Amino acid sequence: MSLFQDKKIILGVCGGVAAYKSAELLRLLIKAGAQVQVVMTPSAEQFVASMTFQALSSNPVRSDLFDKAAEAGMGHIELARWADLILIAPATANTIAKISQGVADNLLTTICLASAAPLIIAPTMNQQMWRSEVNQENIKRFKGRTAISLIGPARGEQACGDNGPGRMEETESIMQFCEQQLQQLKEQQSLSDLLKGKKLLITAGPTIEYIDPVRYISNRSSGKMGYAIARAASEAGAEVTLVSGPVVLDAPESVNCYKVRSAVQMHEKVFEQLDNMDIFIATAAVADYRPVEAKSQKIKKSQDTMTIELVKNPDILLDVSNHNEKLFTIGFAAETTELEKYALDKLNRKKLDMIAANRVGSDNTGRSMGFDSDTNELVLFCKNSEAGIEQKVLPETTKQQLARELIKEIVLQYENRNKKKDWK
Ligand SMILES: Cc1cc2nc3c(=O)[nH]c(=O)nc-3n(C[C@H](O)[C@H](O)[C@H](O)COP(=O)(O)O)c2cc1C
Repeated sequence: MSLFQDKKIILGVCGGVAAYKSAELLRLLIKAGAQVQVVMTPSAEQFVASMTFQALSSNPVRSDLFDKAAEAGMGHIELARWADLILIAPATANTIAKISQGVADNLLTTICLASAAPLIIAPTMNQQMWRSEVNQENIKRFKGRTAISLIGPARGEQACGDNGPGRMEETESIMQFCEQQLQQLKEQQSLSDLLKGKKLLITAGPTIEYIDPVRYISNRSSGKMGYAIARAASEAGAEVTLVSGPVVLDAPESVNCYKVRSAVQMHEKVFEQLDNMDIFIATAAVADYRPVEAKSQKIKKSQDTMTIELVKNPDILLDVSNHNEKLFTIGFAAETTELEKYALDKLNRKKLDMIAANRVGSDNTGRSMGFDSDTNELVLFCKNSEAGIEQKVLPETTKQQLARELIKEIVLQYENRNKKKDWK
């Protein structure tokens, strides 16, 4: 069955030349099985007649925020709640600016602010408008917001005669993009309430260990996997606490996030938050060692060689696992060789319930694996009282999707463990 079947979609149309293409988009959405309600900005009505959309959607077209009949029942809120997805195509620079600032001065922008549905924006404008600093700032504001995604703009010839970025993406590409978003939505919904009432503590990112005020040693870690797991756990209804080393990511709003720098600080924060937790997931790449002494002034270049004495950092995962044997603990192992051997060793040595192992470095084609990338593959090793160690591969996909799959596995194993009293 098509992912569009019976999905309730608001198609927002703004005042740009490409508004005529929205009619084709509407036709494709209806053909794919969606129920579509078209909302036009007042400017859009200068470009296309609402009658076309009404005929194609079999629904009245709305554009007036202060429509007395519709608003007798708070029509704008009703529409905002009705939508499974909002698609704005074409999206003008003006409407993008308003949405990015939370301005709600027409029906479409008001619905965007009042709806929890995912929003897809297909920017369409003159190439100079697209490149303008203020427009780029508005676009940047959407980054990191999970509920808003952009498709396009495409490059090419424009109605004004310019050539460059700003054309509306092809309708087929927009349809494919919507399908991907609906798939994601379906996956998010499949997680719903799986971890309701549970408290999760997650560590993410690297730690940094200062040598002097301007230099440090650290581990390679973008934090993307840990943040994706925090988001997925939150989607699954858990109360999530994230203890993060320095990364450039924004934590999901629903997550309590504590930023730390060093392994010692991470250890301290984790133990401060540990009480009443049900599940602990350690994705952070914690530095194994730190300089014995962090100099208070910048070390000057003098000798040809230099030795820095290091001391072992606390082992956060081992300490947590020893501290509370009832806590369901999951570790991560990033290995360049002998993945299974090292992962199993860590699983047993640190008395974990599960370990998620991934290969890092580069594959035989020279492609970088694990670090920084948005995709990954995981091999899970789980302690299971009947089967001994159970192994499962979560194939390569986006880190966000992988995180959702991992959460489902964790729930399964967590429930299995709790059925057995003689565990560990
Ligand atoms: C012929 C014409 C074509 C236009 N095309 C675009 C366009 O493609 N993209 C855009 O951002 N603005 C375009 N504009 C400007 C918008 O119509 C204008 O900024 C308007 O306020 C947008 O209102 P809205 O965002 O509420 O639809 C165009 C204006 C005219 C007169």
